[in-house]
Amino acid sequence: MPLITAVYGSPRYKGNTAALLKKAVQGARDADARVQEVFLRDLKISPCLEIYGCKKTGRCVIQDDFQNLLDRLLASQGLMLASPVFFYTVSAHTKLLMDRCQSLWVNKYWIKKVPFGQWTPVRKGLFISAGATGGKRLFDGMLLSIKYFFDTLDMELWNALLYRRLDFEGDVFKHPEYLDEAYRAGKEFAQALSE
Ligand SMILES: Cc1cc2nc3c(=O)[nH]c(=O)nc-3n(C[C@H](O)[C@H](O)[C@H](O)COP(=O)(O)O)c2cc1C
Repeated sequence: MPLITAVYGSPRYKGNTAALLKKAVQGARDADARVQEVFLRDLKISPCLEIYGCKKTGRCVIQDDFQNLLDRLLASQGLMLASPVFFYTVSAHTKLLMDRCQSLWVNKYWIKKVPFGQWTPVRKGLFISAGATGGKRLFDGMLLSIKYFFDTLDMELWNALLYRRLDFEGDVFKHPEYLDEAYRAGKEFAQALSE
């Protein structure tokens, strides 16, 4: 039975990305995955202080809620991450998590000296996002960030569900087809992890 961590990266508990991720969690559970849910806004996570305390052991030295979350992520076979578009990238809550994972990057490329790009994926990631506007390149910036964040976790991007023109809390409920798609993606994600 695969273990999935579902990370809610929006400051809104009941926002658009949270509703979509909830559906994906439901789908994954219906496919018999174990899912642990984490709301980043409930955690105290410092920004990366760029002191490179991680250079010795590959582990971040700042003692806060990141440490427990990291252990949970490393124990998981899958990550379902949801973040709204904030200024064409991820939310600040999500970015804090990403930056603290620089310790994993240091571990992989500086300590273990893995040649760039030559790592074997051991995890899969499902990314969910929503933005208010409708531009073609709305998700370009965040997808680049996600690609390199997932790299630190030895994780391949399995799928990305990206929704435009969702702004106010609850807008997503006007699109039951988006919620259905998220449910199906969660289910298929759990199945892909079991293969
Ligand atoms: C600080 C902030 C920055 C935002 N930046 C963008 C943006 O660059 N492009 C965009 O289309 N929407 C932007 N939005 C709108 C949100 O992406 C949108 O409301 C989204 O549906 C929120 O998702 P949530 O309910 O899961 O938090 C921004 C909203 C906030 C609060």
